[in-house]
Order: sequence, then structure tokens, then C-alpha cells
Amino acid sequence: MSTLPTVLIIGCGSIGERHLRNFQATGRCNVIACDNRPAILAAMAEKHGAATSADWTASLADPAVTAVLIATPATSHVAIATKVLQAGKHCLIEKPLSLSLDGMAELQAAAAASGKVCRVAYVQHSRPEVRAAKAFLDTGTFGPIRAATIISGQNFPTFRPAYREIYYNNHAQGGGAIQDAITHMFNLTEWITGPTASVLCDAGHQVLDGVEVEDTVSVTTRNRNGAILTYTLNQFQAPNEATMQFNCPGGSVKVEFHNTRWGRMALGETEWTWESFPPLGRDGPFTIQANDFLDAMAGKPDLMATLDEGIQAVKFNLACFEAWRSGARVSIGSG
Ligand SMILES: NC(=O)c1ccc[n+]([C@@H]2O[C@H](COP(=O)([O-])OP(=O)(O)OC[C@H]3O[C@@H](n4cnc5c(N)ncnc54)[C@H](O)[C@@H]3O)[C@@H](O)[C@H]2O)c1
Repeated sequence: MSTLPTVLIIGCGSIGERHLRNFQATGRCNVIACDNRPAILAAMAEKHGAATSADWTASLADPAVTAVLIATPATSHVAIATKVLQAGKHCLIEKPLSLSLDGMAELQAAAAASGKVCRVAYVQHSRPEVRAAKAFLDTGTFGPIRAATIISGQNFPTFRPAYREIYYNNHAQGGGAIQDAITHMFNLTEWITGPTASVLCDAGHQVLDGVEVEDTVSVTTRNRNGAILTYTLNQFQAPNEATMQFNCPGGSVKVEFHNTRWGRMALGETEWTWESFPPLGRDGPFTIQANDFLDAMAGKPDLMATLDEGIQAVKFNLACFEAWRSGARVSIGSG
């Protein structure tokens, strides 16, 4: 009998299958694929040789299942995660954690009572160039971050050809650029710079065919520590690129996802000093994240997004919607 932990993956659609493949690739766990569509389960068994389950509630009663990854659409994350933690399993939840704050107190209580690992799968935490830049910024060599620009975009139809037919086409299912895409950069930037105090937001549907949700977002924020940050993202541009630049009194730090590198320039210098990492491919950060989650289950420190950070990211998304609709600056409560 295998002594490896067993990870139940609930929801084996686009991202669930990616997680399944990457958890399998660690060689450190067994996986069970769970989906309520029989054709998906058949595909997971055939393509990946995975054990399958059609009913996640039944699988939670299986003592061999020690951890659960929730990759269903966002509307169901909180209810499933609460049950998972109440069943005493470790829990990794896809982003966004939710579309509202409903059920959060119960989820937090279940997480605290379980003593299990509960993380939100903001996968950009797993980029080596981001980790290296954050480690440098954390040394304080350049002083505190006082301003930052976070610029990202890609041609979403190239990466998700079915975007018109999936949850993306509907805000109420987790769709649109705010909840589905720029939330990654909000969470990642807060991880590096600290929590956001207030938000100004404009957004719109600019290009993407066959949907009405916003494909373009522009956000300016104030951090609780006073830093002024600017974010922009669109989902139709040709280049698949993301650049973050953090500006401190003593110098600047830049991260380029598309070049898997980060650089620093001290005040008085005119050239960036770069540190580059090998290209990761699309699965690379997911493999790192899978290993991190298994490490966390084994009691080791990890760099994944915490439940509280996931809740803060939900508040950030909600503040963006309110700021966009009202045209006013919206505060994010710290409670
Ligand atoms: N981290 C990333 O880069 C990334 C990328 C894409 C999606 N996501 C997130 O992952 C989540 C899922 O997105 P997706 O694109 O994979 O969606 P998807 O629609 O492709 O897959 C969701 C799957 O969940 C299954 N499902 C729904 N309810 C279920 C239930 N009660 N029991 C079992 N299975 C159930 C569906 O049948 C479907 O196969 C969303 O929250 C999304 O925002 C994250």
C-alpha cells in the first residue's frame, strides 16, 4: 500500500487537469480526480491514469484522502472548502477565493479549528523571479516601496479559446478581467508591498468578441503604508507580458515574467542589473506550487497565499467593482 498522501482534485476542467498533471509530476502524492461530468472523469482516467470520484462529499469520508484541491468555478469554493476543512483535510483553493464575503467567517473558523494547511492557489507566488525580487525588496536595501507600476496583458482567446462559453462570460460566475485575471496581480503585489487601503478603478469591454464583461482594467491604489500603486491589464494585446516595477528612495526593482528575470537599479546607476531564470513554460509555476503545498502539508514553511490574503483579494475585487461603478475612491476595510 502506498504511503504517499492522496490529494483529491475537485473540478477537473481546464485548471483542475493542469493541477492533476503537476501534482502527479511531483511523484510525491497519489491523486484522485473528481468532477460531476462523467466525460471529464473518463478523460482523466484515460489520459492520466487517475483514480476517479463522481462525488466529492463521499470522497471526504475516505481516510486515505489527506488533502483537497478545489478547482471548481469560484461560486462554490467557500462552501466546499469549509466542508473540506471540517473533514480535517488540508485545502488548496483556486483563485478567486470567492465573489463575495458570504461564508468567510465560517470558513475562517473551520480553517482555524482544523489546524490544517489552507492556501489560495495564486500561482504567481511560485515564480522564481518574483520570489527573488521580493527577497531583495524585503532586505530594505533601497528603502520602502513608495510607488509601483504593474502592467500585464495577453491575448486571452489564444490561451483560453473557449472563453465565450465558460464562467468567464459572466460576472456572477467569476468572469471578467477583474475577478479572473488582474486579481492575480492584486494579490501578488499586496504580498510584496502590503495591503491596499483604497482603490480607484476604470474598466471596460474594449475588444474581446462574443462577451460583454470587461477585458481591460486600470486601477490606482493607496496602500495602508501610503505607497501609490498603478495597475493596468488588458486581455486582447498581442504580447503575453507582465512587468512589475517597484520604486524606492534608494532605487528601483523590476520583474519581467515574460523574460523570467528581475533587475535592480540603485539611485545613480543607469543600467539594470538582471538575474535571469530558465524559462518555466506554462506548467512550471504549477509544479513549484504543487511541491510547495506538499511541503506545507509536511509542516515546512511556504510562500503560497494564505486564506487571509485570499479574503483580502476578494475585498480588493469588490472594491474595484464599486469604484468602477461609482467613479469614486473606495476604501477597503482592514477588518
Ligand atoms: N490559477 C490560474 O492560472 C487559473 C486559470 C484558470 C482558472 N482558474 C480558476 O480555477 C477555477 C476553475 O476554472 P476552470 O477554468 O478550470 O473552469 P472549468 O469550467 O474549465 O472547470 C471547472 C470544473 O469543475 C467541475 N465542477 C463544477 N462543480 C462541481 C462539483 N460540485 N463537483 C465536482 N466537479 C464540479 C466542472 O464540471 C468543470 O469540469 C476558477 O476559480 C478559475 O478562476 C485559475
